[in-house]
Amino acid sequence: MKSIYFFLTVCFLSASTIYAQKFENLALTPPMGWNSWNTFECEGVNETVIREMADALVEKGMKDVGYEYIVIDDCWQIGRDENGYIIVDKEKFPSGIKVLADYVHSKGLKFGIYSDAGTMTCARRPGSKGFEYKDAETYAKWGVDYLKYDWCFTEGQDAKSSYKLMRDALYKAGRPIVFSMCEWGENKPWEWAENVGHLWRTTLDIDMNGRYDGNVNGNLFGWSDLVDMQVGLEKYAGPGHWNDPDMLAVGNNDMPINEARAHFSMWAMLAAPLMAGNDLRNMSFSDQEILTNEELIAINQDALGKQGFKIVDLGNFEVWQKPLSNGDMAICLFNREIKNTKYQVNWSQMNIKDFSGAYTIKNLWQNKVIGTTDTNFLIEVPARDVVVFRLTK
Ligand code: GLA
Repeated sequence: MKSIYFFLTVCFLSASTIYAQKFENLALTPPMGWNSWNTFECEGVNETVIREMADALVEKGMKDVGYEYIVIDDCWQIGRDENGYIIVDKEKFPSGIKVLADYVHSKGLKFGIYSDAGTMTCARRPGSKGFEYKDAETYAKWGVDYLKYDWCFTEGQDAKSSYKLMRDALYKAGRPIVFSMCEWGENKPWEWAENVGHLWRTTLDIDMNGRYDGNVNGNLFGWSDLVDMQVGLEKYAGPGHWNDPDMLAVGNNDMPINEARAHFSMWAMLAAPLMAGNDLRNMSFSDQEILTNEELIAINQDALGKQGFKIVDLGNFEVWQKPLSNGDMAICLFNREIKNTKYQVNWSQMNIKDFSGAYTIKNLWQNKVIGTTDTNFLIEVPARDVVVFRLTK
């Protein structure tokens, strides 16, 4: 009798632990791609938009510099069938999701989708609660490569167990899927989610209209405020597990070029996922140039996977550092004033971590080597703009 109990216990334990892991070796650098929410929200998303965005990502040179995932956010789902399987909104996606995923794959890109840990998504479409294994099985069948998993309508749910449940369901379904947790930082996922997700939101939403600071109704934040919320989180990020300060708002609502450059640079410094959210089909040339700046993307995608941190804080003027492979480092001067600011660069007094000897300095937005760190200099940083240096030995 005893041995039967022992046998049953072993069976139970192995069944419950066998899937208790996330897919390893995914998102070894911060994910890059495009997501539908910031421009199309619920109303505007449909299969034509997604196809055209996949086309544009390739045509505008974004795929060539590393953008990879095309992610449908909320509003592709409409109900459940009698067996509990998710039903696609046929008005928006008449060809079905599998056909769309195949199309995205045919362009050499990867395909992402969205759901929610609660009973409903934030736009009140069906959530995955109680259907996690069925949904994960469906995603794997469709060829999904990335799942953004939201946190609306989760009253009474425990965040850790809800996200672990979907992680396990994805693992059981057997297709490697990047798990993008969108719990807005409410339960400090950076403290417990390293083995659950590949990235986790650290904040509420970025204002999709590209606002610089402040917030709308307490839940849509200007991007520069989101930067402040990342301070201190750097130790939790690394290959395969990233802090996510939300998607890019570059190109949304005519964000001024200086702010777009600063926003993109700070996301690069933060090793943040680079998920564009603008209409790629008709973006301005300057937005395209910003989003495809290879020097900045190299900072973001550096294999060391370190998140940048603030080393100087003068109120409205900050200096940030991001350690890079081979002892290189990125230094970003961020002027938050609405006027140009002069700053005395004094290399030995900027609290640069692990700074030793002389480095060559490249100004990345000017694409120009400007000297070495043997020389200090005065520099003017334009209003709400950045100067980013790459220091190389
Ligand atoms: C939440 C998320 C957003 C977006 C919407 C969709 O607000 O934080 O990023 O996915 O839901 O409804």
